[in-house]
Formats: sequence, C-alpha cells, structure tokens
Amino acid sequence: MASLLVTGGAGFIGANFVRYRRTTHPAEAIVVLDALTYAGNRASLDGVECEFVHGDIADTALVERLLRERGINTIVHFAAESHVDRSIHGPDAFIENNVLGTHSLLKAARTVWLAGSGMPHRFHHVSTDEVYGSLGPGDPAFSETTPYAPNSPYSASKAASDHLVRAYHHTYGLQTTVTNCSNNYGPYQFPEKLIPLFLINALHGRPLPIYGDGLQVRDWLHVEDHCRGISAALDRGKPGETYNIGGGAELPNLTVIDTLCAAVDAAFAGDAALAERFPDAPAAKGIVTSTLKTTVADRPGHDRRYAIDERKARAELGYAPARTFEQGFAATLAWYLANEGWWRGVLDGSYRDWVATNYATR
Ligand code: NAD
Ligand code: TYD
Repeated sequence: MASLLVTGGAGFIGANFVRYRRTTHPAEAIVVLDALTYAGNRASLDGVECEFVHGDIADTALVERLLRERGINTIVHFAAESHVDRSIHGPDAFIENNVLGTHSLLKAARTVWLAGSGMPHRFHHVSTDEVYGSLGPGDPAFSETTPYAPNSPYSASKAASDHLVRAYHHTYGLQTTVTNCSNNYGPYQFPEKLIPLFLINALHGRPLPIYGDGLQVRDWLHVEDHCRGISAALDRGKPGETYNIGGGAELPNLTVIDTLCAAVDAAFAGDAALAERFPDAPAAKGIVTSTLKTTVADRPGHDRRYAIDERKARAELGYAPARTFEQGFAATLAWYLANEGWWRGVLDGSYRDWVATNYATR
C-alpha cells in the first residue's frame, strides 16, 4: 500500500488532491509537507485526516527523516511558486523553490530509496503545459513529445525541474512519473489566478483587469479532474513516463470572463440574500457584472495559446475529464459563494499585504 508524502499539500491543487485521494484510497497514510508561503493555507485541509508538517522541500535532512521515519514510498510533488505574474516581478523565488527545491527533494529520495532501503517507490512530479511554450491558432496541441520552449521565468523554472526529474530517472533509476497539465480552476484556488480573482472582484464591484485583447486561449481543467489524472498516473503510470492532462475545454479568456459575468448575474437574480451579502456588486444593484470589464496593459511575454493532446493519458491511464467547463464553473462559483470564510481569511492576511506592496505602485 502506498504511503504518501504530498509536498505543497496546503496549496490549491495539493489540498484538492489530498481530499480526493483520502476519499478514493482511505487506507493510505498521507503526510503533507508545506512551507505555508503566501499561497499555502492550512485551512484548505481542515477536516481532512492527514499529518501536516510545516517545512521546506529544500530542507533535505527533514525530507530524508520523513521518508525514513514515516515509511514513505510515494512522493507527490506539488510544492512550487506557481503564478506567472509573480515570476515576472520576482523570478528568484521560482528558481529557489521550483528548481533547487525540486533538486533537494530528488536528492533525499535518491538517498533514502536508492542508496538506502532499495524499496519500491514512486516520485510523481506535477508540472505544467506552459513548459511547451505558446501555440499559434492552427498549431497541433501539446503532446508529450512537443519540444520544451518555456517563455516565462515560471515556466522555465518548471521546465528545469522536469528535466531534473527525468535525469534522476535516467541516471540513477529513480522511479518517476510526470504529469503536465493545463490551467486548473476549482475550490481553494488562491485569488490571484484569473477565475477566483475575477469572481471576488465581481462580488466587490472592483474592475476585472483583462490583459491585452483577452483572446489568449487556455485549456481549462477542473481541479478534481486533474486530481483523478494524477491518481491514475500514480496507480497505472509507467516509471520514466510523462502524461499530459487536459480539461478538453479550450477557451479564449473573454469567453471565460463572459461566462463568469453571466453566472454571477444569474446567481444574484436567483438569490436575494446575495445582494445583502455583497452590496457593492453591480449585480446587487441590477447592473450587469460585465460593466466591470476593463482592458489593461498586456502581460510581458504573454503566451497566446495552450492546448493539450491527452490521447496518451486516455489510452494508458484511462483518463478523461469528467466535467464540461460549464459544469465545473457552476460548481466553482457555488463553492466560492458558500465558502466566503475561506477566501476572506486569505484576503485578510498575506494576500492583501502582497497586493499592497506589489501592485499599488505598478
Ligand atoms: P499554489 O501556489 O496554490 O500552492 C503551492 C503550495 O506549495 C503552497 O501551499 C506553498 O506553501 C507550497 N510551497 C511553495 N514552496 C514551497 C517549499 N519550498 N517547500 C514547501 N512548500 C512550498 O500552487 P498550485 O496552483 O496548487 O500548483 C501546484 C503545482 O501544480 C505546482 O507545481 C504548479 O506548477 C503546478 N501546476 C499548476 C497549475 C494551475 O493551474 N494552478 C497548472 C499546471 C501546473
Ligand atoms: P492565470 O490564471 O494567471 O494563469 P496562466 O498565466 O498560468 O495561464 O491567467 C489565465 C489567463 O488570464 C492568462 O491568459 C492571463 C489572463 N489574465 C488576465 O487577463 N487578467 C488577470 O488579472 C489575470 C490574473 C490573468
């Protein structure tokens, strides 16, 4: 039976994964290792049975100790700096956490699993489709053999970590799998990424800042579908292999934003209590949410289009997304409306401080 160390388990996807795996594999032991950076929230794991260790993946001795003392045979590695805009303003943290941190984790796994116990093991690395660069409108979607061409400090740091994982498999025989996925959305996402940021701005009557022409295309993946894909890679993936996980929902940003605005309008129309809870929302005053749409300067080096060819994951893992974007988005909006306490806690703390220091002067 697997005994898991989940790095970054207090972040968005990590917390969803711990919740998902807890349900599907109830007998497994789960240890979460998380440094609780601005993006990590212990509250995202409230009520979930797991051991929480507050620590850094770069602390090789701590990781070695956890692997030995807890009898861990599976690492699921989420911990990273994950936001492109932050990587543009401050790339150092991305090199430290994503490249050096991943290397530290690989060293610990090698020491304990290969030089030490020799036990069967798995090192699963969670990565992004952004390592493949940007597609033109007619280009084929990213497959596992698409050459790497990262364009942002974030994607370059993830590409470097993918290469290190590959090298540890090839050189030392570490039993690795890698998944490269598209843009996730769903519960517990930190409100700096497009969907939760725009939702919370809409509820407060704040502008919805659309970068450039808003016609950039992303493949939207509900986080629970992603967690199923990772779980399938753990259970059925072959060591040394990479699998692309997509949501089958390629959409321009403007379509996502229009969907969001219309859904917020419909939610307020159907529930009078929302106008009392969020009196600054245009929808509370009978004004359409889309009036908040505001075009701002484009992100430097903004990738135009991402798209995932998921045939390999489908054929070898039996993976397919279970939700359409419309279903996944409706569930996400309902979650944010029902879990105001979670996102208020996030907004009242480190996020607000970070926004104040980094965006006020931009
Ligand atoms: P997130 O920013 O929400 O969470 C990251 C978590 O890692 C936080 O809990 C943080 O405290 C922790 N962390 C950061 N540095 C750490 C360190 N040095 N030691 C221990 N913990 C540390 O990120 P996310 O959106 O959940 O993404 C998880 C992973 O999935 C990342 O590797 C990211 O690159 C990848 N990914 C994310 C998306 C997406 O749409 N969010 C898409 C593709 C790939
Ligand atoms: P984001 O959620 O940051 O994910 P990524 O950059 O990893 O794709 O952004 C998704 C898309 O939305 C991307 O094309 C940038 C755009 N975007 C905006 O137009 N405005 C915003 O305020 C944000 C955060 C993103």
